Amino acid sequence: MIVLASHGSSRLATALAEELDAELAAVEEDRFPDGEWITRVPPDLEGTAIVVHTTPAPQDENLIKLLITLDAARENGADEVVAVVPYVAYSRQDRRFEPGDPVSFRAVARAISANADAFVTVDLHEPSTLEFFEVPSENVTAAEEMGRFIAEELGEEDPVIVGPDEGARELAKTVAEVFDAEWDHLEKERISGDEVVIEPKEIDVEGRTVVLVDDMIDTGGTMVEAAKALKELGAERLYAACTHALLTRNADARLRAAGFEDIFATDTVPNPYTVVSAARPVAEAIRELVG
Ligand code: R5P
Repeated sequence: MIVLASHGSSRLATALAEELDAELAAVEEDRFPDGEWITRVPPDLEGTAIVVHTTPAPQDENLIKLLITLDAARENGADEVVAVVPYVAYSRQDRRFEPGDPVSFRAVARAISANADAFVTVDLHEPSTLEFFEVPSENVTAAEEMGRFIAEELGEEDPVIVGPDEGARELAKTVAEVFDAEWDHLEKERISGDEVVIEPKEIDVEGRTVVLVDDMIDTGGTMVEAAKALKELGAERLYAACTHALLTRNADARLRAAGFEDIFATDTVPNPYTVVSAARPVAEAIRELVG
């Protein structure tokens, strides 16, 4: 078994190779004068090749590099190619929102399925969309790893783990259950035509340390809005945790300005806030898929 590390995924790929006790090789990449990409893998592969290739911005470049690297792995001797795409671009475009729209994520899933024998991802935005993949697939969570980190870092403060919306409920629950912390999610309630209240469904956060947990932080808008509501309700200290720290448009600066003391993220995309690795659950999924 060999783990092939693309440029944006070398940290996770290195940890994954260690977990699997597998060989590790870097995928080389280059561009033709007209801008087209070429990627290269070791030319003498055999057995199972695990291509680790994440796809944050520039998404379209990363997606094409992923597809040609999967092809390169097969062309260069791999008997079986596993695509580990810890963050999958277009995962939020998972249904037809307006007439005329595509289901973009299904198109991405089909393209990956056409080039790999199996697929593994981490904290997929909408877990049910795993069914778009046409090869054996696993969506693992890094929430337990995050829970262990938060327990160690903030356990003495008895933090409340909160999802900023209902979609983040399961993630918050999984993080909290690792160390028996209280958990909740925020709900938006429209109380009049132009008045919306955001508050935790059950827990009183006054005077508490709150860790907001979401699958991704993109522009930071969701976290900033949640922070405002929690501060108004008397939360004392705020932290933001996520699996995928995309951090576009200076999101981290916006989070600091909104009162977050720190950001905790995983290694699914390159970012300066990585504190835990998704390697262990990804390795478990690969062992199940590959045997
Ligand atoms: C939304 O449903 C997602 O789970 C995230 O809450 C959202 O995509 C984060 O984006 P942003 O940071 O731009 O608010």
